[in-house]
Amino acid sequence: MQLTEKVHLIGSGEIGLSNRYDCHVYLVDGGDDAVIIDSGVGIEPERLKQNVEKVMDWNKVSRIICTHSHADHGGGSQFFQQEGKEVWLSDVENEWMQNNRDEVELALELAINAGGYPQGYQFKYFQPDFLMKEEEAVKCGSLTLQPIHVKGHSPGMFCFYMEAKDKNVLFSGDTVFVNGEIGLLNAPGSSLHDFREDMGKLADLKTDALFPGHRLFVLSNGQDHVQMGIDQMSKVFTPRTF
Ligand SMILES: [Fe+2]
Repeated sequence: MQLTEKVHLIGSGEIGLSNRYDCHVYLVDGGDDAVIIDSGVGIEPERLKQNVEKVMDWNKVSRIICTHSHADHGGGSQFFQQEGKEVWLSDVENEWMQNNRDEVELALELAINAGGYPQGYQFKYFQPDFLMKEEEAVKCGSLTLQPIHVKGHSPGMFCFYMEAKDKNVLFSGDTVFVNGEIGLLNAPGSSLHDFREDMGKLADLKTDALFPGHRLFVLSNGQDHVQMGIDQMSKVFTPRTF
């Protein structure tokens, strides 16, 4: 499903585009290279591949760039690696995923209890092929994705900001959603204190299209929605969450 000149939606459980537990999965077309944002939950990952093949040659996709390691965003990573694609994750998030297995598993259990994953679901831990750093832009053909590290939903969450001719895009992962809701969880790794520290890093962008990991997305005035989230950080009440 084409969203902008350069961005397609190739997976989403919420609208039935792919497995019901998948986050929104986006495809960025940079001309002679393409990247996928997030790898989905890893149940029926071939549906994501099939959706790519409806719009481009599968060989053009070089990498999967994960916003964070939660199972609905990173659970399909092994599938893509078996398909010969590289999987990239932030250095901070990888450190969290690899070295805090007890907490990662507790967060998974809480999510399963909430219906976020099916009973008995097991996360396929993956070894990223490359560890992204915040100061290193990600090139995709003619496009540049600028990582922005905003902890709060997960310790190593990267949002990606991309300027393009028709629309500037923010892939916000599970950090901020339409109407400024934030992705605060009652689970290990998530912290309102961290949100307060980092949300301001999303200010002053020129976001037209806001593409979060779940729920609605918008094609214009995205920055207004981001700013609503930032504004929540300076108020005493518990912020609205997704
Ligand atoms: Fe998440």
